[in-house]
Amino acid sequence: MNPIDARVRYERLLSHSADRRRLLMSGAAAATTVSFFGRPTRVLGQATPEASPVATHGGSSPSFTLGVASGDPTPDGVVLWTRLAPSPLGGGGTDPIPYEVRWELARDDGFGDIVQSGRAIASPVLAHSVHLDVTGLEPAREYYYRFMLGDEVSPTGRTKTAPALGAEVERLRFGFASCSMWEHGWFTAYRDMAEQGFDLILHLGDYIYEYEPNGYDVREEGPLREHTGEDDATGETDALVEYRNRFAQYRTDPHLQAAHASAPWVVTWDDHETENDYAGGMSENNDPVPSFLARRAAAYQAYYEHMPLRPSSMPQGPDMQLYRGLPYGNLAEFVVLDTRQYRDDQPCGDGVNVRCPAALDPNTTLLGPEQERWLLQTLDASPARWNVLAQQVMMAELEQAEGPSEGYWGDSWSAYPMARNRILSHLTSRGIANPVVITGDIHTAWANDLLADWTDAAAAPIGTEYICTSISAGGAEPATFFEAYLPDHPFIRFFDPNHGGYTSVDLTPDLWRTDFHQVASLLDPASTVEIVASFATEAGRPGVQPA
Ligand SMILES: [Fe+2]
Repeated sequence: MNPIDARVRYERLLSHSADRRRLLMSGAAAATTVSFFGRPTRVLGQATPEASPVATHGGSSPSFTLGVASGDPTPDGVVLWTRLAPSPLGGGGTDPIPYEVRWELARDDGFGDIVQSGRAIASPVLAHSVHLDVTGLEPAREYYYRFMLGDEVSPTGRTKTAPALGAEVERLRFGFASCSMWEHGWFTAYRDMAEQGFDLILHLGDYIYEYEPNGYDVREEGPLREHTGEDDATGETDALVEYRNRFAQYRTDPHLQAAHASAPWVVTWDDHETENDYAGGMSENNDPVPSFLARRAAAYQAYYEHMPLRPSSMPQGPDMQLYRGLPYGNLAEFVVLDTRQYRDDQPCGDGVNVRCPAALDPNTTLLGPEQERWLLQTLDASPARWNVLAQQVMMAELEQAEGPSEGYWGDSWSAYPMARNRILSHLTSRGIANPVVITGDIHTAWANDLLADWTDAAAAPIGTEYICTSISAGGAEPATFFEAYLPDHPFIRFFDPNHGGYTSVDLTPDLWRTDFHQVASLLDPASTVEIVASFATEAGRPGVQPA
């Protein structure tokens, strides 16, 4: 593939073209242009009136309280992020004017070999966050970056660009995680992720929880540490400032900051960044759609403000382009899915329900028609050895009724069987190379064979699913109740009921190796973290095998 074709293909994968055009057009009006070494750079933020003052120094309190992050690496660039927040739990604490920060990107962590530097505007419209879309870098290369405001210097972040499109890649090491719940346990698993020096970290959702303080109670003694960030009578976060304060509270965690600073992140959300079990425009409690969409807009904006995402993901009201593709040389194609924004309301209701006729409606969708089409087209066009679906909710069948009647968790793929069938049958009919689904949400660790027919356990698997446990959600007590269902599910090859951990993958052209990492105690921020199980999937042989 020549470089221009490759670039075009990448742009197409990056996001849906119509939305991308719309966002870029709207973004163009909002862009501020600065230069570094003569190269124009687009900096996110709203248009600033010419006469507005621009601050170049912070106040008496530290500004870089939320650390730094990088994300969505391409072969020639990466997004660099920070947010100025001298009062992180109190709306940020900055003056409501733009601030100009300086930034540096170097080949070494001592910043002796700076390759790019410049200035960027942190706009009050985006909570003084900075999303710097750096380009012109070398592929598959480690870089270090930092921001400055006046005399203040941010922590240093490490990042790494993706390999060149089509490049032969011998090895990729990445981690994936989900479900970090502030009140349930220390973020010790993030600390351990930070120590791994991964090429990439994927976050599969539930980065925050929206509940009121102690609203999701798993400890008799009360929360280990309490949520702040909601400041009205409604309890859960539902206004922009409340979501901002909640994201900021999580980001004050030193282990989470360390994980962000250690590697580029690729993020997607699940429900709790907005509201438990929401589906498209339908809230959990069936609020009027316009009022829920206003809440969704606030949640999406705060999410964007706190994540190292590109301009193509800047929300427009209650809509945000989050699904996207990220090629990693010829080794892996990451398709990052959004199973929340476009899904049909849970066909048979929330909770565990029998599979009602609505679940068998062939039009039922979890991804929405556009994203589903994009997914299948992206898989068809992928030249990669491994095709990785990074997404939220469990894909393998899980029947969990007590007694003789069947029951399926309304929020998972098992409640949308027709939508799941369309994707699984595409994998086989098109011979998609080595599909692996990576999943979060369920707060426990799983390794599953994906089957064309769940009732035919003797059939060869058509794909593989690895599910990470929570970073902390669920707390110290294991979810052993799942164990009762396992005998009826021979395609579930591994289950661990413990909360607190993450999953890492060591990938080569011939072998996918999964390691499940487990925190010894969620109640101890200095806890050890150990690998408790390892599995492998060989190229050309879908399914879970011993490592
Ligand atoms: Fe969760």
